[in-house]
Amino acid sequence: MALLRIKVNGRQREVVVEATTSLLTVLRERLYITSPKAGCESGDCGACSVLIDGQLRRACLTNALSIQGSEVTTLEGLGEPGDLHPLQRQFYEKSAPQCGFCTPGMIVAAKALLDKNPTPTELEIKEALSGNLCRCAGYPNIIKAVRAAAAEMSGRGGEE
Ligand code: FES
Ligand code: FES
Repeated sequence: MALLRIKVNGRQREVVVEATTSLLTVLRERLYITSPKAGCESGDCGACSVLIDGQLRRACLTNALSIQGSEVTTLEGLGEPGDLHPLQRQFYEKSAPQCGFCTPGMIVAAKALLDKNPTPTELEIKEALSGNLCRCAGYPNIIKAVRAAAAEMSGRGGEE
């Protein structure tokens, strides 16, 4: 057992974990931050996507102690009711979620893309989200939502 100290969504957290505990387990079962989903828990679906020090990572494949001192951002850290991130708002407005299981990971992956490339092409959006699976096959509206958020964030809101 060891003490893990990480910042999650801007808040310093301390959790005692075992050497093999994953970040996904820490988030969901210890900190009750449940937007990262336990989809496959083998790195295949992207439902557990989070940002670690700004980099897109799979929480299920990330050993918690390996990110000691890091800053983790989940969907909950992007916005909140009444002050949604443009990606959150556009996913809602474009009806991108169907069952919604993939949505937190999709939005976090899209955030990672827009942080690096504020004006992605449709192909670049598809490539950036290619590791995130949607079992409802809601891809067209997901792409529309990311395009609209990118346009809004770069001041081209009227284009979408
Ligand atoms: Fe982590 Fe599927 S739950 S990639
Ligand atoms: Fe159901 Fe994507 S909306 S998995």
